Amino acid sequence: MVSAPPSTFTELAPGIKAPVQQTLLTPRFYTTDFDKVASLDLSQQSVELESVIAELRADYNRHHFVRNANFERDWSHISRETRQAFIEFLERSITSEFSGFLLFKELSRKLKGRNPLLSEAFNLLARDEARHAGFLNKAMADFGLSLDLGYLTKNRTYTFFPPEWVIYTVYLSEKIGYWRYILVYRHLEQHPEHEIYPLFQYFESWCQDENRHGDFFKALLRSQPQLWQTWQARLWARFFLLTVFVTHTLTVLERADFYASIGIDPHHYNQQVISHTNETSERAFPSVLNTEHPEFFPRLETCAQANAKLTEINGNRQPKFIKFFQKLPWMTVILWQMLRLFLIKPVDTEQMRGVVY
Ligand SMILES: [Fe+2]
Ligand SMILES: [Fe+2]
Repeated sequence: MVSAPPSTFTELAPGIKAPVQQTLLTPRFYTTDFDKVASLDLSQQSVELESVIAELRADYNRHHFVRNANFERDWSHISRETRQAFIEFLERSITSEFSGFLLFKELSRKLKGRNPLLSEAFNLLARDEARHAGFLNKAMADFGLSLDLGYLTKNRTYTFFPPEWVIYTVYLSEKIGYWRYILVYRHLEQHPEHEIYPLFQYFESWCQDENRHGDFFKALLRSQPQLWQTWQARLWARFFLLTVFVTHTLTVLERADFYASIGIDPHHYNQQVISHTNETSERAFPSVLNTEHPEFFPRLETCAQANAKLTEINGNRQPKFIKFFQKLPWMTVILWQMLRLFLIKPVDTEQMRGVVY
């Protein structure tokens, strides 16, 4: 049942929410060098790729994304603050699912006839992401708003990433997506009293989609020796892990209200998501971060505190150039903490692999 939206959001049309302003933290839309992707030599991981693609073809979640009777209720009892936090969470999730859909769909289209196996794989990934984004958008409609995905497609700026960066970042966003969803699901399984809305019941099978997507990108990554055998690859791996973890920390702690509304401590949740994602990445990346170092999480938290100051300054009424000088010290804090985090002695995963085999 539809209930009235909180009036604090700008609407493009009645019930259609204007997308939030794009910042460094909002999910991005990507484009890449399609010719280079078409010509990738995948022979080193052909068995692994075939087996992941067979899993995608099996389409285990074909009947999963159907709204059950639990959604047919009135949500107007949910407080205004919680609804606002929910809508922000949903918008961010829809945008990142939809961003995946657009990139995968375009890859599938451009690779058609040139690399049939990859074209099919990207089409299957796009199928899943379209379902995810659509399902979330229906959830947002329960709170009286939805996103116009066509408008979003035309009005967002697309960032160019070379295929190597796409492989690192999409691998990470799929795996962090898996951990984000499964940890919320497990929490609510143990604390059903916090289940205020039925969306999260869908997360267990949903996150298996993200896990399979991540496995596909892992096979792509391992098929390209320059992405894991070189010293540059080690630096890139650490760099992307760090940027994904800093972004995650800032966005989770910025949305502390949302997590509190479902009984989750955002600090603990952030640490759990990051530790698990870092550990999972050991299977794909040549080097990962040492999340057990005593300085690791305190430095991430310092970045989040500096980010809160930046948000505060953004909201004040000072002229732009004054704001810039007010923000400068806090931006320096974030960059300095990121540098210190980057320099913590990393974990050499290739050496660990050498021990195992
Ligand atoms: Fe997804
Ligand atoms: Fe995905």
